[in-house]
Amino acid sequence: MARKYSIEGGIRLEGEITVRGAKNAVTKEMVAALLAPGVSTLRNVPEIGDVEITKRVIESVGCVVKHDMAAGTVTIDATTLAGPEVPEEYSGLNRIPILLAGALLHRFGRAVIPAPGGCDIGARPLDFHLQGFERLGAKVEHRDGAYHFSAERLTGARITLPFPSVGATENLMMAAVLARGTTEIRNAAVEPEIVDLALLLQSMGAIIVQETDRTWVIQGVDALRPADHRVVNDRIEAASFAASAVATRGEVYIRGADQLHLLTFLNWLRRAGGEYEVRPDGIVFSGRDSKLKAVAAETAVHPGLMTDWQQPLVILLTQAEGMSVIHETVYENRFGYTEALNRMGARIQLFSECLGGSECRFRHLGHKHSAVILGPTPLQGADIEIPDLRAGFSYLVAAALAKGRTTLSGVRYIERGYDRVVEKFKALGLPIEVIEG
Ligand code: EPU
Repeated sequence: MARKYSIEGGIRLEGEITVRGAKNAVTKEMVAALLAPGVSTLRNVPEIGDVEITKRVIESVGCVVKHDMAAGTVTIDATTLAGPEVPEEYSGLNRIPILLAGALLHRFGRAVIPAPGGCDIGARPLDFHLQGFERLGAKVEHRDGAYHFSAERLTGARITLPFPSVGATENLMMAAVLARGTTEIRNAAVEPEIVDLALLLQSMGAIIVQETDRTWVIQGVDALRPADHRVVNDRIEAASFAASAVATRGEVYIRGADQLHLLTFLNWLRRAGGEYEVRPDGIVFSGRDSKLKAVAAETAVHPGLMTDWQQPLVILLTQAEGMSVIHETVYENRFGYTEALNRMGARIQLFSECLGGSECRFRHLGHKHSAVILGPTPLQGADIEIPDLRAGFSYLVAAALAKGRTTLSGVRYIERGYDRVVEKFKALGLPIEVIEG
């Protein structure tokens, strides 16, 4: 039997927590360390499953990795990088293995990477990554369940992404830093976690220019050196706890919540009736005196409303007066988790039309990517199986709001991406018990 959480709900979350480094930055930065022989250090590293998976992935190609959990540091010695093949056992665990392509190609002239996994929230193809590598001069083949890359040396190119993909931008950026000549990645992603990756690469000696129009210009260099880098704080963790505080009509001080990276989220929170106070080291979020109101919003790439903020916002909107609409434009299949919320008493209906905003690339494709949420609805405890990471957190908040007991299974999803999540919820007064499997 796997681990479960048992939660006695009907409480307000009150207290203080500290957010740590972003999952979606640290895992990429661990891979970036492979680009330079020597020991790189990452600080502000969260205790999450994805760091451990990424550690095993980069160890599998010969790196020596040490994770000091108490200090929150990871050191990576890439001097001993031994071979170009990521073993098949790392297929399906997370999205990281494909990001090793550039570093392995530079060191060995070839790379073999098993098909990646990650949360089941859409088809999640890799065509932008693979086409980008071809533009950089690599030969790419898919056979025997793995991607095979080869190139004597990558050569800079002009690449225009069909959609500003986070993973493809990161992958091509890491490939371009050691390529011969200059690479332009147009229509690229510009999320803060990518800027943080660019900062690390710059500290390693890369030349990376961010232009104003979603374009990264990377002038290849012959070699990089190791670096010492503090990982940017996790804006998804911050927003998730912020929405929890407001939804439960509590008050939580989130140390390390960074206004710069929460600008869009704060506007939506305010429109929905949430309160906050920005302090020098964090932000206090409060729903104590809030009259929560319905909103109509759509997710988008940065600087829009993040797709990973959608789930905590939906939970909050189940407690708001009126009819809210959320149009998901980044992933075609990211509302499956609402079915369990409806079992708990929420009134959420899904539509395949583009509701409440512009038309997106999923129009006419039949995916249920718009949600209408009627509130406020009281919630009742239930037994729930978690389907993915962000859904998992929203069930924790639903459990805090619900009358009675909720049992969550599949908690490994939550623990893959949220630092010390049980400890943090306990610190906010949630009666949560871990049942070991
Ligand atoms: N896409 C393609 N082809 C590609 C790449 C992407 O069609 O080759 C599409 C995807 O199917 C999707 C859209 O482009 O519809 C955006 O995908 P993107 O590549 O930006 O996503 P990702 O890199 O796989 C990262 C995060 C996600 C986060 C998204 C968007 C990591 C490990 N994952 O995914 O985070 O939602 O960017 O910001 O960084 C999570 O943390 O729970 C999570 C899912």
